Amino acid sequence: MISKMLQRRNFIKALSACGIAGLIPATMPTPALSITRPYQLTAGKSAFNISGSKQADTDMWLYNGSCPGPLLRLRRGEILRAEVTNQLDVPTTVHWHGIRNINDMDGVADLTQAPIEPGESFTYEFPVNHSGTFWYHAHTMSWQQVARGLYGPLIIDDDDDPVTDHDICLMIDDWRLDDTGQIHQSSLGSLHDWSHAGRLGNWLTVNAQSDPAFSVKPGARVRLRLINAANARVLTLRFDGVEAQLVALDGAPCRAETINTIKLAPAQRADVICDLVTEKAFIREISTGTDHPAGHFVATQELGKATAPKNAINTALVPPLPDLRQVRRITVHMQGGAMGNLTEARYDGAVLPLRELAQKHKKLWAFNGQIGDYNNIFAEIDLGSVVSLDVINDTAWPHAMHLHGHHFWVMSDDPTVDLPSGQRDTWLMQPQERASLVFVADNPGMWLFHCHMLEHAAAGMGAVLAID
Ligand code: C2O
Ligand code: CU
Repeated sequence: MISKMLQRRNFIKALSACGIAGLIPATMPTPALSITRPYQLTAGKSAFNISGSKQADTDMWLYNGSCPGPLLRLRRGEILRAEVTNQLDVPTTVHWHGIRNINDMDGVADLTQAPIEPGESFTYEFPVNHSGTFWYHAHTMSWQQVARGLYGPLIIDDDDDPVTDHDICLMIDDWRLDDTGQIHQSSLGSLHDWSHAGRLGNWLTVNAQSDPAFSVKPGARVRLRLINAANARVLTLRFDGVEAQLVALDGAPCRAETINTIKLAPAQRADVICDLVTEKAFIREISTGTDHPAGHFVATQELGKATAPKNAINTALVPPLPDLRQVRRITVHMQGGAMGNLTEARYDGAVLPLRELAQKHKKLWAFNGQIGDYNNIFAEIDLGSVVSLDVINDTAWPHAMHLHGHHFWVMSDDPTVDLPSGQRDTWLMQPQERASLVFVADNPGMWLFHCHMLEHAAAGMGAVLAID
């Protein structure tokens, strides 16, 4: 009950913080409140076909029995209400990845809420104030729950979205399946994965299919919303037969840019406007050196004529980097993993050798010599301050660093990486890269900063930032 009241209070606080209350002249009749979109999500066990026709169904953990979970689609300014029921036999929570959320609604079990126990429900309710491509996923033992299928797409539409003929969401995953097409069980939680690149899969799907066909109007302009839902795989997608323009990254607008390929680390998203220039247009995943089909377009006369103009795209304004003169710098020295230089680290109040951390606690990664856990506040930050997370990837592995509740600007010393022109919520750090992730700490609460290679996060690569 207390937590319900607390949610309600913070929710009202957040509403008035958006200025809704302050903007209404006293003489006007009480306006209708924002539209609330109610959804029901039930996390449960179900069988679903992800390995192709004539193959047996895979036993999975899914939302509403669907893979990916149901599309949640709202307009900017609306309120998302999701009643989540847990029909698994383990606790769960849902995180709304990329939403600058009310902290209580962020879905991090044991940090922002108590886990939803089996048989119980929890209602998330929050306004969505930014348009773009987001996703939701389990945030309790996510290395296991996401690997089994607990995720889905979340799209926020806006009045100034570019006009297109089609809007297609592609949720891409690489599953690790055994010979019978089941989720590979014995390697869930494998120490080898946790200390190396994470759980890489062996079966690529797009919206749970191998090479889905998208019927489109001939010559159409298509908005693709690409979401990497893999536990650990960094995807590279190549577009053929289309003119592709990148317009947003991680749900935040960037300067429109013509591209042929896009690299997406786990949890990252890209919005790409594609103009079909040939009859045969397709998407391939090329990160391993072997081309894997990842969807193709079928020009379909019956759908009628493409009408969206092929004009240059004006993306929403990209917010400028804030003034850095007063910046609060926080060094994040990432260490650990296989072939790394971490010999010992603090965990649960004691400094322990890496061997013991690995074998007894399955902890392998650290920031500034500290194994990440939710009881330990990494940094206290004044609300409203400009913060630079100065991150040094002093490990042998790439890491997809995600900040909850905020988007950040990226500066990097690695000349080989393409810097985004806008903000992001997840940044792929190359081994030995140094990057400054700059954000305005305008959202109070306890926010995670962690690697989205979910095995790395579970093994200690994460930190709590307290903003107050
Ligand atoms: Cu998408 Cu903390 O996660
Ligand atoms: Cu990592």
